Amino acid sequence: MVKLVVTDKDGRDVEVDARAGLSVMENIRQLPRSVEAICGGLCSCATCHVFIEADWMQRLPARRYEERVMLAGSPAFDAARSRLSCQIKVTAELDGLRVVVAPES
Ligand code: FES
Repeated sequence: MVKLVVTDKDGRDVEVDARAGLSVMENIRQLPRSVEAICGGLCSCATCHVFIEADWMQRLPARRYEERVMLAGSPAFDAARSRLSCQIKVTAELDGLRVVVAPES
């Protein structure tokens, strides 16, 4: 298992034992105050928007074009730390990753 730490919409930190191979979104959407992920991971809704700390951002694969387009339309977009959680695949290297659910997600 890969440990993720999720700050939910109420500001509470919740630890999640994540399954590698699934996306971050698929691992955190079951939390009560987490991302809505309306499109189910098709990169077409941005309701899985999360913020990620700078040092972790550097370790993630770069945003693809579709993700950049969706995030650009998000009111809470922050170029330094915004990601769509459905576009981040969980791997063993992400053990300890901290994500903050964006306000509109
Ligand atoms: S779940 Fe819709 S863009 Fe990620």
